[in-house]
Amino acid sequence: MSDQLIIFDTTLRDGEQSPGASMTKDEKLRIARQLERLKVDVIEAGFAASSNGDFDCVQSIASIIKDSTICSLARANDRDIARAAEALKPANRARIHTFIATSPLHMEKKLRMSPDEVFEQAKMSVRFARNLVGDIEFSPEDGYRSDPDFLCRVIEAVIAEGATTINVPDTVGYAIPELYGQFILNLRERIPNSDKAIWSVHCHNDLGMAVANSLAGVKIGGARQVECTINGLGERAGNCSLEEVVMAVKTRRDYFGLDVNIDAQHIVAASRLVSQTTGFVVQPNKAVVGANAFAHASGIHQDGVLKARDTYEIMRAEDVGWSANKIVLGKLSGRNAFKQRLQELGVVMDSESDINAAFARFKDLADRKSEIFDEDILALVHMEGAEAQAETYRFVSLSQASETGEQPKASVVLIAHGQEVRGESTGNGPVDASMKAIESQARSGAEMVLYAVNAISGSTESQGEVTVRLQQGGRIVNGVGADPDIVVASAKAYIAALNKLQNPTERVAAQG
Ligand code: KIV
Ligand code: ZN
Repeated sequence: MSDQLIIFDTTLRDGEQSPGASMTKDEKLRIARQLERLKVDVIEAGFAASSNGDFDCVQSIASIIKDSTICSLARANDRDIARAAEALKPANRARIHTFIATSPLHMEKKLRMSPDEVFEQAKMSVRFARNLVGDIEFSPEDGYRSDPDFLCRVIEAVIAEGATTINVPDTVGYAIPELYGQFILNLRERIPNSDKAIWSVHCHNDLGMAVANSLAGVKIGGARQVECTINGLGERAGNCSLEEVVMAVKTRRDYFGLDVNIDAQHIVAASRLVSQTTGFVVQPNKAVVGANAFAHASGIHQDGVLKARDTYEIMRAEDVGWSANKIVLGKLSGRNAFKQRLQELGVVMDSESDINAAFARFKDLADRKSEIFDEDILALVHMEGAEAQAETYRFVSLSQASETGEQPKASVVLIAHGQEVRGESTGNGPVDASMKAIESQARSGAEMVLYAVNAISGSTESQGEVTVRLQQGGRIVNGVGADPDIVVASAKAYIAALNKLQNPTERVAAQG
């Protein structure tokens, strides 16, 4: 059996299914580039048949990414599969990932199909897909809650039709590590042609065991592909987190005996990018990418680490891309230094005019903040991209007054539908007044379901990064804004969320 573990990233497909995490095309392209830099083996770029927008994203990612295999999800029907194949045409290496539910509950209640019908549809779909693309992955959705005898029948048939990867999803996060590992092993041992395909694990985190289950699927079950997302992004409690599974396999190579292609030095930048794009803040104690993952607060630990790092550290922070939080640039830095730092951070800008625009924003920030950290530059570049898509509303300026015992007031100038307008309001605090001032002009009627502030680089001098989640007519969107002034960051985040609400994306759900 191979000692290479394939890393299949589904941040742009399963991760994006998380409510509020939907991304624009530009955001997806930026994340796809970062995944390529990370040396992810397979990027699931989307679900081409679900909407024209998703088709366009898969096609564009397939055109620009050269090193990773590009995959599109497709339900087990000819139309979805043909759409996926069409979108994947520009790819250097393409994969179609087709799926159909196989658990009794899903077949009866969701699909309203008999097991024999599901069996036939799975077989015919893989046969159809195999004529279009050589690399075919098949997933029996809700596989872990399926009857093993039926699953063996379906999987044997789809391998015979040419499926090259068999993925066994724990769709609802019900598995327990040892049982899931045994489940995969049992299938592999019972299915006569199981050695003709690579086995893959796909675990959801509802019981907090997605990473443990995936690793058990690898160690006990013999799977050689793990499906995962950056920061564990995904529906409900999320998917298996890429950074945790990769660092477990790398750090405990003595136990797993497996190699992964991932260039771990790009992990922290990937985590930041996904968090800033989606507005899903990474918890400080999150393994590998949380702000505290390498921080030693207790005196005993600090003393130990100073004497010998490995007393309390099993990984090196710099190996996963944590910089020493050093000041990189300031007010006097020139365009060349800025451009070089962007390259060192792995930020690719499409044109000189994009660099000029980012540099102008950098100068503006440096006027207000004496020390510019890598984190500031990444936030600034990301915000540049986000605002470039802002069609309906654009932030111009804000003034607010608050004094103990007085009701705070805010006045916000914005461009709305091409016209400069001013909104004014009072509120419980300056942030509340500013949001109400914007809403007095936008009149979206959206409900705010989350407001979160995060300091980008740790001190009061830092930029505040604000996430605003709005809900309107069943849709949930996140907006993110960054600025040294958190009231301004809040206004920008609110405007970013309003802009996302203006761009409805109708798509078919992958599950359900
Ligand atoms: O969780 C799941 O079952 C999925 C499939 C579509 C692979 O995401
Ligand atoms: Zn899933």
